[in-house]
Amino acid sequence: MEATTPGHNRTGAAVSPSEIQRMQDAVNTLSPPTPISTRQFDTERLAYIADADNVGSIPPPASLVKGTLKKGLARLKGVSPNLFLDKLGERIAFERTGTRLYDALISKYLALSNAEGDVLPPAESVFDAAGLPGEAPASAAGETPLETLRRIRAEELGHFRMLCDSTTQLGGDPTAQTPCADVIATASMGLVQVISDPRTTMAQSLNAILTAELTDNAGWELLEELAEEAGQSDLADRFSQALGAEQEHLAIVSGWLRTLVTDEAGTPAV
Ligand SMILES: [Fe+2]
Repeated sequence: MEATTPGHNRTGAAVSPSEIQRMQDAVNTLSPPTPISTRQFDTERLAYIADADNVGSIPPPASLVKGTLKKGLARLKGVSPNLFLDKLGERIAFERTGTRLYDALISKYLALSNAEGDVLPPAESVFDAAGLPGEAPASAAGETPLETLRRIRAEELGHFRMLCDSTTQLGGDPTAQTPCADVIATASMGLVQVISDPRTTMAQSLNAILTAELTDNAGWELLEELAEEAGQSDLADRFSQALGAEQEHLAIVSGWLRTLVTDEAGTPAV
């Protein structure tokens, strides 16, 4: 399945210059263009922002509800416990979504490969063939593409579980939807839609995963920094390990995408 095929796309103005000219003539006659001011929109936006409540809240830590503050949260230095729990909640939400994104990507990979033959090269060959900087990640060596996809999926789930444990250790509730968790879930909705759409190609799906992995990398970097700042070196070590795995995911996904797009670019148009 090719992503870029010519067809009956009539969205562009160039398909009918004479009709466009007639439309512009009609606009000029019936409704001459006047400068557009967005001031009313802006005023409305400002009013809504001024009136708005927050996106959710942080629940009181489970340990506080029971009347005893756990050592973890009490020991946070220089970082607000609420902020820390909020960002942990955000990563929990994102790793959960990441697991589901890879579930959908694996289904797409299997469906397309059944129909067309393997649609992905092994991850390690991506690095040789596309001349990507750096070496193939050691963990991808000898894996089939399906094994690599399943391993990445398992790592996303492992990160989710590690974050849940970390939150519980601090006295937080990993099942609570924090404000940042809510916001990132809303922001990720389009990614889920792209990969779940039966019409999208492997390359288009990888493009959506690439957005997720880039966001994930930046999110883990920030969480590791916060843990360091809070004096939580054990957590910072765990987050640093997760970041290492996410860096590998990013390299593999961007390598695959590059290979597929380059292959398509080299295919003569029919
Ligand atoms: Fe990842």
